[in-house]
Amino acid sequence: MSEAPASPAPMEGHGSYNRRSHVQAAGIAAAIPLLEESAGLVPLTTAPEPIVIADYGSSEGHNSLAPVSAAISVLRKRTGSNHAISVIHTDLASSDFSVLFQTPDSYLRGDNAVFASAVGRSFYGEILPPGSVTLGWSSWAVQWLSRIPAPIPDQVQIAYSSDPQARAAYADQAAQDWRVFLESRSREMKKGGRLVVLTMARDDVEGFGYRSVVAAAYAALCDMVRDGVIGKAELERMVIPTFGRSRADLLAPFAASGYFAGLAVGHCEIFLAEDHIWSQYEKDRDATAFGARWAAFSRASVAPTLALGLDDKNHTARTALFIDELESRMTAKLAAAPERSAIPLAKLVLEKSAV
Ligand SMILES: C[S@@+](CC[C@H](N)C(=O)[O-])C[C@H]1O[C@@H](n2cnc3c(N)ncnc32)[C@H](O)[C@@H]1O
Repeated sequence: MSEAPASPAPMEGHGSYNRRSHVQAAGIAAAIPLLEESAGLVPLTTAPEPIVIADYGSSEGHNSLAPVSAAISVLRKRTGSNHAISVIHTDLASSDFSVLFQTPDSYLRGDNAVFASAVGRSFYGEILPPGSVTLGWSSWAVQWLSRIPAPIPDQVQIAYSSDPQARAAYADQAAQDWRVFLESRSREMKKGGRLVVLTMARDDVEGFGYRSVVAAAYAALCDMVRDGVIGKAELERMVIPTFGRSRADLLAPFAASGYFAGLAVGHCEIFLAEDHIWSQYEKDRDATAFGARWAAFSRASVAPTLALGLDDKNHTARTALFIDELESRMTAKLAAAPERSAIPLAKLVLEKSAV
């Protein structure tokens, strides 16, 4: 089998992710109260030292506006209006940061003491100064592994693969990445600081979820091989290196002592987010719109990473054609048999020791 690409690509740029991330936005609402509560409890810096809010895996930023605004509202009740708040959005260097700074309805409006900036580096490592972050937020990001640990011979998503070697390689990588993520964030956090994480997860009953969406993606890719749109070797290289961690996976680093890297778990909950695409379908019975919405979600979030399996991934015209083709084939497959998707998510609060 030909070698898989080394690491995932960022979300589709030029505003595509912002336009096609309503599924993620819906899940985020469930974690905002944890961020508000954390903003009310964290020890604050004394002016002129700014209060730093870090947003890990921001993509094009639209989905960061609600949580960051909510956190600032709570902080502002605790500080004077002149106390500087620094909001640092972080993502992979190749992410489309220009859109992030054009995103309207910004939390910057009406508060001259809030300052936004961005860091283009992987969150699997330290990317902000030690002891600088008061409040951290990361939504729908840490399910992305730092690297593609192995090809998946019978699928593009490891949760639906029956290959034991591939399953073991992904589980090992997910465990290692989660530890590195926690260690890195802990070093960046101030004493008493808090980090709220919302991530795709594994539910005891529903598993990884998105069953029909993943099935449609893999079937569409197999059809594209049959129809000569992509080669068999190209499909063999295509994987989505996301991993739904179970509650036990998320808590494993803390199992021995209740602490890991100076962090304690203040909250850890697996829950099922509402499938708003299905709810809309129940209202309008428009199967094509149903298929198009899930295909658009897949396009913006995973198609750029799948496209890394193409022979010439720098061939922009072929990449664009591949992404369009995948989206339209997925739309047709999902429209043919609409199904509610399970959307398992985990929300956590990690607290840095105050001493
Ligand atoms: C599904 S988007 C989530 C965006 C936004 N936070 C939201 O909730 O809609 C996942 C983001 O995580 C980013 N990401 C994945 N791996 C990363 C890494 N190692 N370091 C930084 N960002 C990463 C991706 O580039 C992408 O922008």
